[in-house]
Amino acid sequence: MAQKFRKIGVLTSGGDAPGMNAAVRAVTRAALARGVEVMGIIGGYRGLIHDELIPLTSGDVSNKIQLSGTFLYSDRCLEFKEEAGMQKAIATLKKHEIDGVIAIGGDGTFRGATDLSARGIPTIGIPGTIDNDITASDNTIGFNTAMQSVIENVDRLRDTCESHARCNVVEVMGRGAGDITINTAIATGAVDCVIPECPFDEDACVEKIIRLRRAGKRSFLIIVSEAFPELGEALVKRINNTTKELAEKEGNDRLWVESKFCRFAHLVRGGTPTLSDRLLATKMGVYAVDELLAGKSDLIVIEQNGELASMNIAYSQVLDRMYKGTLKEGMLDKFTAEQIADMEAFIKAKKETFAKTYAMFEEITG
Ligand code: F6P
Repeated sequence: MAQKFRKIGVLTSGGDAPGMNAAVRAVTRAALARGVEVMGIIGGYRGLIHDELIPLTSGDVSNKIQLSGTFLYSDRCLEFKEEAGMQKAIATLKKHEIDGVIAIGGDGTFRGATDLSARGIPTIGIPGTIDNDITASDNTIGFNTAMQSVIENVDRLRDTCESHARCNVVEVMGRGAGDITINTAIATGAVDCVIPECPFDEDACVEKIIRLRRAGKRSFLIIVSEAFPELGEALVKRINNTTKELAEKEGNDRLWVESKFCRFAHLVRGGTPTLSDRLLATKMGVYAVDELLAGKSDLIVIEQNGELASMNIAYSQVLDRMYKGTLKEGMLDKFTAEQIADMEAFIKAKKETFAKTYAMFEEITG
């Protein structure tokens, strides 16, 4: 028989993401509606170690759905990675008679969720990260808002590029994933983008800008993933120098495409959560509560083709590594041949979809 839950904890951990508050609200309201008390854990896993928790009532999560950041605060807690830190966290949970935890964050947060599950605390993860780098899920909370922020700001750069016939190279977050980059490159009409998933031909990029400038194009945008921290500024220099030399050689100063670099960084991690992030956060929050109260643990909530489901955390971590090509020896040992075949098929399909998106971008990008 499933355990009777009287009280659960909810935390946000890792890089904050717009929509985390909406998820905390949904978790709180869904749990209260099922007769379960909720404790908000302050500052992610650090709050568990240092016993910083607050009871959450329905009123406490009122007027939060539209707010970005996380009112529970967030942290990347190194102490929680050590057994001693984890034991302190478990002691806090026992002291407050918390029967289970919902942890909202990215892959680091889910490692913590697995650690708690393994020590007898049922824990469910909800993907909240702008990076969209939880391979099993089509979307993570915050991804849509971050992309919206990118396109709004790139559109502003476009305005001034067009006036001055310039190029702006914009670096955007996403850690090792190019999802924000490719989608915003498409949506802003960028001439090129640089992502970890596909090769970048710098010569072809510069040639393209020259060809388009000769044809009269005035504004050029290139979106670069933060996975290439040096590349953006170097590319700006190259476009500046190459087009300036060409302009001088041909005696045509119109060929000089003056280029500027802009790193958006944390700018796109704030801002009002979009409709789709609020909906995703709300649905995932309620789903996570249902899974936890049904006696499940060590799972993350995922969205695939518009439907929510849950997946074992270790399984989802293998998918992440398969996708990035960072699997280490022994990581597949605990999975059956059938599971591995399913994982491989999933990754193949995901990569094909990404490649198609990239091919489409290349085709329609002038
Ligand atoms: O994982 C979210 C993220 O915003 C990444 O895109 C970025 O690489 C990282 O966090 C930045 O972390 P911090 O907020 O610690 O600087």
